[in-house]
Amino acid sequence: MLILGIETSCDETAAAIVKDGRHVLSNIVASQIDIHKNFGGVVPEVAAREHLNSIGIVIKQALDEANLEAKDIDAYASTVGPGLTGCLLVGLNAAKTMSLIHNKPYIGINHLMAHVSANYIETELKPPFLCLLVSGGHSQIIHMKDYNKGEILAQTIDDAVGEVYDKVARLCSIPYPGGIVLDKMAPDGNKTRFNFPDAKVKEDEFSFSGLKTAVLREVKKFTPETLPKEDIAASFQERISETLINKLIYFSKKINCKTLALAGGVAANSALRSKMENLKNQGYAIYLPKMKYCTDNASMVASCAYFNPIKTDNSLLLEVFSRD
Ligand code: KG4
Ligand code: ZN
Repeated sequence: MLILGIETSCDETAAAIVKDGRHVLSNIVASQIDIHKNFGGVVPEVAAREHLNSIGIVIKQALDEANLEAKDIDAYASTVGPGLTGCLLVGLNAAKTMSLIHNKPYIGINHLMAHVSANYIETELKPPFLCLLVSGGHSQIIHMKDYNKGEILAQTIDDAVGEVYDKVARLCSIPYPGGIVLDKMAPDGNKTRFNFPDAKVKEDEFSFSGLKTAVLREVKKFTPETLPKEDIAASFQERISETLINKLIYFSKKINCKTLALAGGVAANSALRSKMENLKNQGYAIYLPKMKYCTDNASMVASCAYFNPIKTDNSLLLEVFSRD
């Protein structure tokens, strides 16, 4: 089954064609980061207009790269939410229109489940497994009991992990989106220089606002010239990655599930990836999406459409939603 997926929930306009949920035939992403950099974050109206400019181009490229024509596609899928309303509407209308023109089904998908589905791409992963989902908007541990059955075991009560990365980067005068820059700086710093706190939270919670404030307190002790950005990055990265992995291991023991996956934009983070890799020595089966399938992309949308579509009697009546 060939599914053409479309992703427009935030600042990436993406289209991809995936066969049977696992084999990527094309994966096109037009990033708007350079545009939003000027504003220090994503401006929803600007993002929606950019999606409109790019959507037709990325869909055509996805078909061309896969050497296919629209008539070869078995279903069209798009992200329905959560995300920015005006942005989501562009992808949803493009996918629904193509489905109507070519008389093929339209499939709506949930953005978070799409991130989780990135782990099915070019792998043999089957549920049950535990997924640490960390992105710019979400931080959750999800127990995938089946392809279409996920239970959230823990989630953040304040900032998401990617959001904290970007905010800490801004405190260090690193432009948006600074998460990836902090990650690159961290190996050059001393991770024991600053002893950042771990929030006292309940079993099913994460909290990162205290960590952010602790970083701010340290940053204020320096001038921009003397700020040891690498040491801040290293100490911050160590704390947040330890917190996330410790809770993942805790739940893995609690529910006796030794298959672990990582998902979301922050799944590209080097510390998280290496801590996950290290767990292989303790008998864990570890799944890490390829870097290009961590941040927003449409292959994960097409994979999710195959394995975990939004259930509905009439998908053409699905409407976008901004929050989960
Ligand atoms: O999943 P994603 O592309 O968009 C959302 O659904 O939110 O995630 C984007 C987030 C941004 O906050 C970005 O700074 C963060 O992922 N990110 C990283 C890294 N690469 C992207 N954070 C830490 N380390 C990275 N290597
Ligand atoms: Zn995302």
